[in-house]
Amino acid sequence: MHSMRLRWNVEAFERISVRRASARALGRDSIFSLSDGISIRLVLPFFFLARRRKGRPQKYSSFFLSFFLSFFRRIVDVFYSQNDSVFFFFFVSFLSQQQNMTKPGKGILAMDESNATCGSRLEGVGVENTEENRRRYRELLITTPDLGKHIGGAILFEETLYQSTKDGKAFVDCLNEQGIYPGIKVDKGLRPLANSNGESWCQGLDGLADRAAEYYKQGARFCKWRSVVSIPSGPSKIAVTDCAYGLARYAAICQNAGLVPIVEPEILLDGEHTLEETYEVASAVWAETFKYLADNNVMFDRMLLKPSMVGPGADCPKRNTPEEVAEATLKMLNSRVPPATAGIMFLSGGLSELDSTLYLNAMNQQPNPWHVSFSYARALQNSVIKTWAGDDAMVGKAQAILSRRAEENGLAQLGKFNPDESLANTDSTFQKNYVY
Ligand code: 13P
Repeated sequence: MHSMRLRWNVEAFERISVRRASARALGRDSIFSLSDGISIRLVLPFFFLARRRKGRPQKYSSFFLSFFLSFFRRIVDVFYSQNDSVFFFFFVSFLSQQQNMTKPGKGILAMDESNATCGSRLEGVGVENTEENRRRYRELLITTPDLGKHIGGAILFEETLYQSTKDGKAFVDCLNEQGIYPGIKVDKGLRPLANSNGESWCQGLDGLADRAAEYYKQGARFCKWRSVVSIPSGPSKIAVTDCAYGLARYAAICQNAGLVPIVEPEILLDGEHTLEETYEVASAVWAETFKYLADNNVMFDRMLLKPSMVGPGADCPKRNTPEEVAEATLKMLNSRVPPATAGIMFLSGGLSELDSTLYLNAMNQQPNPWHVSFSYARALQNSVIKTWAGDDAMVGKAQAILSRRAEENGLAQLGKFNPDESLANTDSTFQKNYVY
């Protein structure tokens, strides 16, 4: 039985405004589906009217139509930022073609490290953790030439969503120009879980609806919430339930705000557990997560998942091949994730650059029900930050490395990565007790 409020939420979600944001981020060129007959009927007359005007060559009619549509889209964007009930206007805006995150050969650049985490990375290469240095580093990432070829979305930390290049161009505009959707980390980090064996819970639900609306206005079109599950510390029932419930509430709230949620229950690499143990825990966590996602009326086809790959813990003496990791990961996902889910965008979790690409490539040797791709932070950025190390003269070289990392993972998304031609680093990026 749904409460009135929940029913209202579902109806609100179904509003075209949300479809537009979701369709864009999920890789569709328009929101039209069979059930959208009414909207198509409303748009088509405009189209034919414009084309049939007597005495005017067809090319001019098309020109006027596209001019009219782009003008209308501008109005829609302005209206939407103030009033999300301008239902009719959205029909026209859907016609615009968009680049997106789940097109073949594309993935996500995670660059949403908190100020503290970004700071420790900077300090690790001898750069002081100041706002300006974080901005300089993120400008390097965002302005990488041709980044949009293999990157469809970039997850930003709140600070970055509002920052600009040194020449004053908003980061959001730089991303949009490359066809990259700006995303935003919306959780407020991990806290110790009382009465557990050193486990944690993820905070950030308070005020989330208001923050999500603000982020949308600022240009964000998708979002991320990262909860973690520790195998050596449990996982306890209460930790898994809290992780799953928090993710579901977050996803429901953000879908209502027009943001496509990335659902990320990270199974930490820390520990000596085997691949088989990871499999058991991951299956339990995803079963619980989908139960709460369904209970909260989250639309599966308008969200993305960000799982860890199913492999051995960092200190497990037995190592597995990429094929074994891929097989276990896909078996787990196939038994837990509905095919309606649009995309599986893996985290790298401390794997080396090369391993994260090899594992992804192995998973794409067969057709999958979902787009199986990457949303890496460390596995995309590790060599980049070390090469830059705060030196402006090294920006071009560092950007070339990022571009190459994105390209190789784009190939792995297609199952066409060739390790013999790879420049990926084989060093592990794992750090014990890593926080984001
Ligand atoms: P890593 O790829 O470094 O695990 O980070 C991805 C991420 O976004 C974690 O939340």
